[in-house]
Amino acid sequence: MRPCALLLVALAGAVYASSGDRSPEFHGCVSRCRQRQCTPPNVIPLSLPLRLTHWTCEDNCNYSCMHDITSRDKRLGDRVHQYFGKWPFWRLFGIQEPASVAFSLLNFWAHWRGLERMRREIPDGHPMKKYYIVWAFTGLNAWIWSAVFHTRDWPITEKLDYFSAALTIFYALYYTVVRLFHLYPSSRRTRLTLANSSPGANNGGPTLRIWSLLCILVYLCHVSYLTLLPRFDYFYNIVFNAVVGLTHNALWALYALPASVSVFRRFPGRPKAYRPAFVTKTGVIVACMTAASALELFDFAPLLRVIDAHSLWHLATAPIAVAWYTFLIQDAREDSWRAYLG
Ligand SMILES: *[C@@H]1O[C@H](CO)[C@@H](O)[C@H](O)[C@H]1NC(C)=O
Repeated sequence: MRPCALLLVALAGAVYASSGDRSPEFHGCVSRCRQRQCTPPNVIPLSLPLRLTHWTCEDNCNYSCMHDITSRDKRLGDRVHQYFGKWPFWRLFGIQEPASVAFSLLNFWAHWRGLERMRREIPDGHPMKKYYIVWAFTGLNAWIWSAVFHTRDWPITEKLDYFSAALTIFYALYYTVVRLFHLYPSSRRTRLTLANSSPGANNGGPTLRIWSLLCILVYLCHVSYLTLLPRFDYFYNIVFNAVVGLTHNALWALYALPASVSVFRRFPGRPKAYRPAFVTKTGVIVACMTAASALELFDFAPLLRVIDAHSLWHLATAPIAVAWYTFLIQDAREDSWRAYLG
């Protein structure tokens, strides 16, 4: 997930202009290495983990030269350069960015656990349950592809990561609108009992259908635009994720406002000012989500060539996901939904 990373692009662009892969010594090192290791009859076979993760002899030369030059830069107190737009990381069993992979798997675990909890703890008739479960699956999918992308970055793994991340952010906005504007379908029983008491109660009618169609259309356009262009539009991709992610956060921030300044009815069949105490927590989590996105703004050379800002962002999203599941479950178990649970 890369919301709120507009500045990063500007920053990365500036760094890229002077990046290490353009230096003559890098090119010299790479061509000597290839001569010595990749040119028959002097082909040195790669270790099994490297072959399993599809490293080529040429990739391996680039990797060794990048680290040799970085080690020297550090020894001389020079600044660390980026290579092909990325910081130098120590690989582990052929995994390019082990910290980001580990933290992606941590997020996967958080969503896995969240999914199990929602299945168990949200009553079956709850109108939001199926949306939340679908969202949990989009989360599992996104974190698998994030782990794959950080294992080996190729154009295809990059696209799968970006499109899966966009899907889960976008689906979160989708269910947020369904939940907060009460677009979810209600059971026949609720329709009868809530017909008069709850003027805003919706039957999953035209508004829900239009909103769903609109979201499907926008997502398909997003993916098509990025796939059909000859060059991947990184800037547009980040703006899209940032706008969607921040809109999602803003809507939940409105939900978390104090009772006296309630903008919309939080729960079905209740007045606007109805605000259970746990709603305050929502505001805190949303603030954390927004603050964590700022980690995407601070780009720094990785500590010990292991931990960079991006991996810290993945580390931060895991506990936030756990808290978010707890909140969604609490929200769904609120008393106001009783009329919906036939
Ligand atoms: C490795 O480095 C060479 C020389 O700079 C470059 O042409 C090539 O594209 C690099 N390969 C990869 C996979 O980055």
